[in-house]
Amino acid sequence: MGRASGKVVLITGGLSGIGTSSAVLLAREGAQVVVTDITENNRETVLNSINSAGQHKAHYYRQDVTSEDEWKKITDTILKQFGRLDAVVNSAGVGIGGNIEEATYEHFKFVNTVNYDGVFLGTKYGIEAIRRSGDHGGSIVNMSSIEGIIADPNLAAYNGSKGGVRLLSKSAALHCAKSGYKIRVNTIHPGYILTDMVRNYIGSQENPKAVWDYIASLHPVGHLGEPDDIGHAVVYLVSDESRFMTGTEMIIDGGYTAQ
Ligand SMILES: NC(=O)c1ccc[n+]([C@@H]2O[C@H](COP(=O)([O-])OP(=O)(O)OC[C@H]3O[C@@H](n4cnc5c(N)ncnc54)[C@H](O)[C@@H]3O)[C@@H](O)[C@H]2O)c1
Repeated sequence: MGRASGKVVLITGGLSGIGTSSAVLLAREGAQVVVTDITENNRETVLNSINSAGQHKAHYYRQDVTSEDEWKKITDTILKQFGRLDAVVNSAGVGIGGNIEEATYEHFKFVNTVNYDGVFLGTKYGIEAIRRSGDHGGSIVNMSSIEGIIADPNLAAYNGSKGGVRLLSKSAALHCAKSGYKIRVNTIHPGYILTDMVRNYIGSQENPKAVWDYIASLHPVGHLGEPDDIGHAVVYLVSDESRFMTGTEMIIDGGYTAQ
């Protein structure tokens, strides 16, 4: 028996980085995995990795997490196809830098629509679909960031979106607990993790090597994290091992926020 056996899990942003790692590790632990993403890039490679990790066939649907209609459609489709939903991992996100003076309102709205509105919708429709599929309960895992705990002068819009995810998740967790739903809601707060989001950011800088070294130096362990460092936490939060855990956060950051 795997740690996530019998569970049907929807993972947004599943074709890259932390979403892909979560999908592969959950499949290895016996979950039936549905990945969604706004893009089709890497679709076959990612689906093959999930299929080789587990015994169930992985499924992909295109989904823009900012569309309420698409949330209704995807949760309906999953309930029709599998008869249940046990967990949603809201990993889709975008990272754009800029301090409060540089950031335009358009920039702010784009980052917050994906990172914050998308997680609001994923939490709301995730809870609804888990409840519609029975009284087994479930788990919502929302990807915040160290940037949802501490601020960076150059991440005004991103800080706002990730801070919002943290408290939104606590509110939803309290609502579910007090309503007796057995649905838990928690956030994960990664430090810098080696995914396309971070590679593209570092690659776009004038001196990527210097920026890389600087970012590594911000983590007391002296290096960036790997997607699996976060994927393992996702497995724990989806599994029943974390059944007493709700309304809280897991900080996985190589000591970044301990200083
Ligand atoms: N990598 C890090 O250092 C880091 C640190 C802290 C938090 N996070 C958060 O973790 C999550 C995953 O990040 P990642 O590093 O794996 O990034 P990534 O760029 O590798 O993957 C993000 C995925 O989200 C998808 N996406 C973007 N907009 C979408 C939309 N509107 N609808 C559906 N999918 C959409 C992208 O296509 C991509 O596949 C994000 O929420 C990010 O903010 C990442």
